[in-house]
Amino acid sequence: MVTLELKRLGQTFANPVVLASGPAGFGLELASLFRWRPMGGLTTKTVTPTPREGNPPPRLVDAPGGALNSIGLVNPGMEAFVAGVLPSVAELPTVRLISFAAPHPEQAEAMADTLGAAPGTDILELNLSCPNVEGRPPAWEAGTTADMVRAAAAATKTPLLAKLSPDVPDIVPVAAAALEAGAAGLTLVNTVRALRIQWDTGLPTLVRTWGGLSGAAILPIALAKVFQARQAFPGVPIVGTGGVMDLGGLLEMVMAGADLVGVGLGVMVDPVLPWRLVESLETWMTQRGFERYEALVGCAHRGGLHVSEQT
Ligand code: FUM
Repeated sequence: MVTLELKRLGQTFANPVVLASGPAGFGLELASLFRWRPMGGLTTKTVTPTPREGNPPPRLVDAPGGALNSIGLVNPGMEAFVAGVLPSVAELPTVRLISFAAPHPEQAEAMADTLGAAPGTDILELNLSCPNVEGRPPAWEAGTTADMVRAAAAATKTPLLAKLSPDVPDIVPVAAAALEAGAAGLTLVNTVRALRIQWDTGLPTLVRTWGGLSGAAILPIALAKVFQARQAFPGVPIVGTGGVMDLGGLLEMVMAGADLVGVGLGVMVDPVLPWRLVESLETWMTQRGFERYEALVGCAHRGGLHVSEQT
């Protein structure tokens, strides 16, 4: 009998698949799917201290193996979210990860205090890595990462994930800064800063020039970051996100060291994909005689599947 259940960050996840922040919005359009079959978790679209209208169009453009987005953290702002959206999110039968971002540590602190105490929040995810807003993402540097995480973590008892950027040469010092500052775990990774040029005008396709690349194209990049972080921090909960579009990608992410696996762009391509991934994982494990999902997590660091199988 296969069990996909796992306990992390003070919560019991029915399975390791989590809807990543962004493409699923606040999850409410998918409510019937959440009620149809258990899903590991839902990460809400990032909320900010005040409402944001987002970037000028185009906001989503095609790219080889994925898509480039420049959404610009569209959201109603924390107050409207807590009053008008979170009560509905709280009714979804899944673990709720509430994503938030703030320009300064003082605002991160205030947001963590409010969101962490709000009914419906199970876990907080501090987004330090959106490439589509003004300023440098905090997660590009260990120091700014630490400042933001320290402020947020001090304000709440709710477990806090730090969502980091793949756009750094070495994820380990940034992850170490987040963990030392109080993060309970890591979400790895956000989109990759990227560019497209419209060849008929000779200009960048996106108004803000840069966008965030997601989809299968970034899977190997996300895997590298998860692998490095798992090696450096063996006991730390990791949500591996980036380019998982099928069972193969999910398995690679888990074997690299992700406890939980985020699905982002895949939900836009096929809203049922996370549910199909859970079923496929269960079938795959049954066919190979694995009973415990946890035996797969990080097996690339322990001599591979064959060795894990015997332990
Ligand atoms: O533009 C956006 O809203 C993207 C957010 C993110 O990648 O964190």
